[in-house]
Amino acid sequence: MTIYFFNSFCVFVLLFYGVGAVLASPENGNLLSTMKSLVAQHTKSCGVYTGIHATFSKGDYYSIEGVPLSKIPVSWAPDEPDNFQNGEACIIMLLNGTVADVQCTDVYPYLCFKKKTKNMFMGACGTLDTEYTFDARTGSCYKFHRLPQTWPRAFAACSGEGGHLAIINSDLEAQVIKDLYAKNPDSTMPGNFVKHSSHIGHCDWDERGLWLTIHGQTLKEAGYDKWSNGEPANSTQGSTGQYCGAVHRPGTLNDVWCNLPTPFICEKAPDSLVDDE
Ligand SMILES: *[C@@H]1O[C@H](CO)[C@@H](O)[C@H](O)[C@H]1NC(C)=O
Ligand SMILES: *[C@@H]1O[C@H](CO)[C@@H](O)[C@H](O)[C@H]1NC(C)=O
Repeated sequence: MTIYFFNSFCVFVLLFYGVGAVLASPENGNLLSTMKSLVAQHTKSCGVYTGIHATFSKGDYYSIEGVPLSKIPVSWAPDEPDNFQNGEACIIMLLNGTVADVQCTDVYPYLCFKKKTKNMFMGACGTLDTEYTFDARTGSCYKFHRLPQTWPRAFAACSGEGGHLAIINSDLEAQVIKDLYAKNPDSTMPGNFVKHSSHIGHCDWDERGLWLTIHGQTLKEAGYDKWSNGEPANSTQGSTGQYCGAVHRPGTLNDVWCNLPTPFICEKAPDSLVDDE
């Protein structure tokens, strides 16, 4: 069991969906006491996020799994829920097991919950997500996300799946990416968004003009630094420059606006989700 810190409820939902886990809720007495003891052991925070929320309808609280709050054995802390400034739709559990509503963008630790599963076929990529395909040329697995996301959301989605935004380490891997693109032509992505550029794992780390992979190597150290013609261009149309990394269809590198939703490519080591307990 792990306690993570993150700052947006929706990001959690996105994160855990990929690994078959959910944000833990004290849905029964066992879960409540397990959560309380883990919180007591692992954090000094005054509370932890639960998966209980009212995102879809103010005041109607459900766990991520769909259990209504009325069936969850917890009581509100004094003066809660107060829906302060009409902005509180997420539920934290305090150390004594009572609950309170907070803004979903507040920062609290949280617990992930995943039912124990036996003998599930995990495939060559070590995940239940069949969109990951193993490529023997690099020994990595790849997933092309056709639904556009901003670069930070793309980063979170790949992490949640046990992977990371793809890092190109060789000409051969650039070819792998190019082949992956070929399997995902524009026609597979209905909607009005950029389809010739996909987010991958390099960015400027807020050091304008410097490009490193998300694992901290220069592109040269990582093994591949072929930019598309005229890139990085740091286009400053719009309010900011282009500080996040992407790859064009031919497998050459690009810089993009971090908040521009585009498709993205995740890479995963086949053993990244292997339990080491
Ligand atoms: C639980 O903790 C909250 C916050 O410290 C406190 O206000 C409340 O009285 C406590 N409730 C119980 C039942 O101990
Ligand atoms: C990119 O453009 C931004 C906004 O004009 C500017 O602040 C920044 O210095 C530029 N970065 C580079 C590497 O040219």
